[in-house]
Amino acid sequence: MKDKSKIPSFETERLILRAVELSDADAYKKHFVDYEVIRYLSSLVPWPYPEHGVHDFIKNVIIPNQGQGRWVWGIFLKDEPQELIGCIDLWKEGKPEHRGFWLAKKHWSKGIMTEAMPPILSYAFDSLGFEELIFANAVGNVASRRIKEKTGCEFIKITKAKYVDPKFTEQELWKLTREQWAKNYNTPTDDYKSIL
Ligand SMILES: CC(C)(COP(=O)(O)OP(=O)(O)OC[C@H]1O[C@@H](n2cnc3c(N)ncnc32)[C@H](O)[C@@H]1OP(=O)(O)O)[C@@H](O)C(=O)NCCC(=O)NCCS
Repeated sequence: MKDKSKIPSFETERLILRAVELSDADAYKKHFVDYEVIRYLSSLVPWPYPEHGVHDFIKNVIIPNQGQGRWVWGIFLKDEPQELIGCIDLWKEGKPEHRGFWLAKKHWSKGIMTEAMPPILSYAFDSLGFEELIFANAVGNVASRRIKEKTGCEFIKITKAKYVDPKFTEQELWKLTREQWAKNYNTPTDDYKSIL
């Protein structure tokens, strides 16, 4: 396994998950800087998105923190392994949530995020030592809510929250414990380790 960036790569049936690198900036920008994607994210994400925002975010936030309190995987199709089409981001300090994710709109509803999630969650519990993970989504973000439901998360409550799209004013909070995850999934992280 190539370990340029202190986090492991994983493979699933259709996908490669590997650390985001500066060379991914163009594809990241192409797919992420889209109001249909960004509107579902926290209002801390700027909109309109700054011209050099993706490059600066990868260089100044992702790369220096990679594997040290923050773990950011790019999602790549095995058929198109050079092109980043989405991301999954975990962070140690809950805000209260510990995870963010997004996928290029052209790839929505093909089960890609559902497929990408198990290796990341197994790694979080098996290797990073999380006892529980808190997740959040805007009330009304049905696809994101389904990802939580399908991975066995427990609904906690709804609270006020601000999103890029001001139409969203509340968030659903969810919890996934190590025990809940183990009950639903028992594939060890090593089974997803990429040989890249
Ligand atoms: C949320 C997101 C990552 C989902 O990725 P995806 O690969 O399209 O999701 P999947 O195809 O794995 O689908 C997950 C579930 O959501 C459902 N779903 C997907 N898109 C949906 C939509 N637009 N409306 C309703 N349900 C939807 C799927 O049917 C599936 O449920 P099922 O298995 O019961 O059928 C993607 O929609 C996205 O990037 N959205 C914008 C950014 C975002 O919301 N990030 C999360 C912030 S909390």
